[in-house]
Amino acid sequence: MQAKAYPAWAQSTLYDQAALDALYRVAFRFVLMSLVYLAFGVSLGGLIFLGVRIPIFIHAHLNLYGFLLMFIFGMAYKLVPPMFARRQQLFSLRLARLQFWLANGGLLGMIGAYALHLEATALGVGAMGMAVAAVWIFVLNMGLTLNGSNRGMPDG
Ligand code: HEM
Repeated sequence: MQAKAYPAWAQSTLYDQAALDALYRVAFRFVLMSLVYLAFGVSLGGLIFLGVRIPIFIHAHLNLYGFLLMFIFGMAYKLVPPMFARRQQLFSLRLARLQFWLANGGLLGMIGAYALHLEATALGVGAMGMAVAAVWIFVLNMGLTLNGSNRGMPDG
């Protein structure tokens, strides 16, 4: 992908603007998807409130994993590396991108499997594995980002 050109005065030797832009695009996608899940999750809550028989699992996970977690993923990718990491770099942009697809595919697959009573099938287990792996990857990526930010810093 073509790196965005910045005027010389806006360039810094401290960080790689193209890498930051790429990371912010991942963050943006997470936040965007979180809003989609919130709209659907809350609407399903309204229907359940009115007595429509929709599994609570679907409403709860659209709101908690879909909205809250995805929003946190997006905001963390946007805010944490600049806050703590030296040179403002995330440990791995590739892992962040992979995590985006695992989280979304995993959540939607898990909800589909639950709705169709297919939890104990390859679809259900695979989707659940993707959703859990997405969280582990996030924890690892953030943990290594924080760890890297300490390298070379004075103790204390
Ligand atoms: C206007 C918005 C919402 C409405 C109308 C709504 C409605 C409901 C209803 C009717 C239930 C089922 C209660 C029952 O019969 O046991 C429920 C459960 C639940 N909702 Fe919502 N909800 C809304 C927003 C949210 C949000 C924003 C979240 C999370 C961020 C959320 C998380 C949950 C969870 C975790 C449960 C399961 C609770 C349990 O089974 O113990 N809901 N909601």
